[in-house]
Amino acid sequence: MKSGCLKSSIPLLVILLLTHYCSHIEAEQRHPSGEVVGKKLPPGENDSDFCVPGKAYSTYRCSPPVSSRTKAFLTFNVFEEGGDIPSFCDAKNYSNDKPIVALSTGWFDNASRCLKRINVTANGRSVLALVVDECASAMGCDADNDYQPPCANNIVSASSAVWKALGVPHDKWDGLNITWSDA
Ligand SMILES: *[C@@H]1O[C@H](CO)[C@@H](O)[C@H](O)[C@H]1NC(C)=O
Ligand SMILES: *[C@@H]1O[C@H](CO)[C@@H](O)[C@H](O)[C@H]1NC(C)=O
Ligand SMILES: *[C@@H]1O[C@H](CO)[C@@H](O)[C@H](O)[C@H]1NC(C)=O
Ligand SMILES: *[C@@H]1O[C@H](CO)[C@@H](O)[C@H](O)[C@H]1NC(C)=O
Ligand SMILES: *[C@@H]1O[C@H](CO)[C@@H](O)[C@H](O)[C@H]1NC(C)=O
Repeated sequence: MKSGCLKSSIPLLVILLLTHYCSHIEAEQRHPSGEVVGKKLPPGENDSDFCVPGKAYSTYRCSPPVSSRTKAFLTFNVFEEGGDIPSFCDAKNYSNDKPIVALSTGWFDNASRCLKRINVTANGRSVLALVVDECASAMGCDADNDYQPPCANNIVSASSAVWKALGVPHDKWDGLNITWSDA
């Protein structure tokens, strides 16, 4: 009977670990959860943004804890009406003129922040931005991810409207340290 007891407690433990994976295991918030290796690209497919064949890239299931001043790296993402893929959250094609963002997998938190607003702060300015997509940190380098490397675990990938609201000149849109919070 004792062994039966032990067996039945294992799945519960596994479920608890999975449910609270990111919030309770501090080390897992900052360290890679695995890696993906760049594949041989299909003929005719090449771009400087693509994974380099044979090169290993770290993947992250979790992101640092969210606070009232969560440190992040802001990148520029084109969410062009009819031009980009429809948003994961509601399948709409958002325009770049709207303040919208994609978050690293850990912060996207299995879509729990979908269509919620976050408060992005930099340069003494703030803007409320709608979360519409995920910046996939736990996978990459395959056809599903356009052969692009996994996202880092601290990314807020933002439309031009967010960059403009923060007053960042266009030639500096290659990346910026920011803070954000749930709004
Ligand atoms: C792809 O393009 C990059 C530069 O854009 C180049 O360095 C690389 O060798 C190319 N890879 C292949 C497989 O053609
Ligand atoms: C969104 O864009 C895709 C790709 O351009 C297009 O196929 C789709 O019809 C668009 N969806 C909406 C709702 O406009
Ligand atoms: C993610 O959300 C989906 C839909 O709500 C749910 O079925 C799934 O169990 C969730 N996964 C995790 C790891 O929480
Ligand atoms: C956003 O964050 C900034 C800086 O912490 C704060 O001053 C501002 O009131 C916040 N805005 C909203 C709408 O929460
Ligand atoms: C941005 O943040 C990173 C990590 O916190 C730090 O190493 C880097 O120096 C910062 N860059 C600037 C320009 O402040």
